[in-house]
Amino acid sequence: MRQIEWYEETQWLHDALRSGGAFVVAADGDGKPNPMTIGWAQVGIVWSRPVLAVLVRESRYTYGCMRASTAFTVSVPRPGELGDALAFCGSRSGRDCDKALETGLTLVPAETVEAAWVAECGLHYECEIIARTQQADADFAPTDVPETFYPSPDYHLVVYGHIVAAFADR
Ligand SMILES: Cc1cc2nc3c(=O)[nH]c(=O)nc-3n(C[C@H](O)[C@H](O)[C@H](O)COP(=O)(O)O)c2cc1C
Repeated sequence: MRQIEWYEETQWLHDALRSGGAFVVAADGDGKPNPMTIGWAQVGIVWSRPVLAVLVRESRYTYGCMRASTAFTVSVPRPGELGDALAFCGSRSGRDCDKALETGLTLVPAETVEAAWVAECGLHYECEIIARTQQADADFAPTDVPETFYPSPDYHLVVYGHIVAAFADR
């Protein structure tokens, strides 16, 4: 695993987000890390620093983890790999099961932040939480988005993480 600049492998991240997804890992109030599959994320510059923002619906166990944590990671599978684990972590909740145990994924401590990685992945972002923004009905312009994505008011928490380190190994 070699340390990379935050912008070096964004194509890999985006390709994963457009196909099977990636894993976001944040720990619950007891410090237990929980992997959740994500398909939505943004990478760019905010507050003069590299930021990775993830969107977590209120109904997810990960929502409470993001509220309880100071950091999270995003781990990206190598192309075509870990499809079963992505599907599992994208449909089962850490509220009801130990996803690492059930999938065989290995959660290891990140290098620089209080969070864990999915060791079987080839690309990792280590993020310190800078801000959390709760979306609400009143924030949406009158497009198709609210009725398409929020038939019930399960709005996203946008969690902005400062990318303090990134690692890749293909
Ligand atoms: C491909 C894929 C992408 C997903 N993207 C997101 C996402 O970006 N945000 C989100 O809140 N849920 C997303 N989900 C749904 C969660 O992964 C799913 O509800 C999961 O079971 C929640 O786990 P948790 O309760 O342990 O947090 C996605 C699911 C899949 C299969």
